[in-house]
Amino acid sequence: VPSDDLAGRTVVVTAGGTREPLDPVRYLGNRSSGKQGVALAREAARRGARVRLIAAHVDGDMRDAAAVLTGVTVEDVSTADELARAVTAAASEADIVIMAAAVADYRPETVAEGKLKKDAVGESLTLTLVQTPDILAGLAAARRPGQVVVGFAAETAADRDELLARGRAKAARKGADLLVLNAVGWQHGFGADNTTVVVIRADGEIVAEASGSKDEAARAVFDAVGCLPTA
Ligand code: C5P
Repeated sequence: VPSDDLAGRTVVVTAGGTREPLDPVRYLGNRSSGKQGVALAREAARRGARVRLIAAHVDGDMRDAAAVLTGVTVEDVSTADELARAVTAAASEADIVIMAAAVADYRPETVAEGKLKKDAVGESLTLTLVQTPDILAGLAAARRPGQVVVGFAAETAADRDELLARGRAKAARKGADLLVLNAVGWQHGFGADNTTVVVIRADGEIVAEASGSKDEAARAVFDAVGCLPTA
């Protein structure tokens, strides 16, 4: 693999998991560690790109290690809304946008101003959640000619066929150039060191597969980007 095939390119990577506040001290979140997003940022920098890493609660050591890499700048965000604003702004100058972050699909409709108290709330607490905008679909719909938009799809699938079926439906819905499918569950996926990814195009065609470290998955993703006719 040529080591400088992204020289002169600007790559935006989102990483980690968003948190949606319930009150000043509580949130709804997910178990994303940010490992895959940081691996993508590292790989893009290794290939010569200018990289903007938009980090939503990436584990501290990894975030700090990424921030000192040559060519990488880090912007910290928390909620889906903050991530949307940061990535939309950064996308205007990006050749490649990779949405590796686990973005909340729903957020609490209201955020309590003070800490929720058992004596005030009572026996049970019902939360009303509202959908967050699909950032990836928005970026894909708004992309400039030649700009590449890559999404991730972490699916709880029983087997490869189910993973592919879910991934293909999602690829059609989101409209990204590439979708990186990976199986997640209680035991694997978020936070793990190793991963298995299948990279598909918007039309559902498989263009790359990788199994191993998240660095290896990152290499497969950028190799697949390099093979796109638009790139
Ligand atoms: O629909 P789902 O959440 O599985 O889609 C995953 C992909 O969509 C990821 O690339 C994620 O970053 C992105 N996403 C998004 N905005 C959301 C939810 C997910 O861009 N509100």
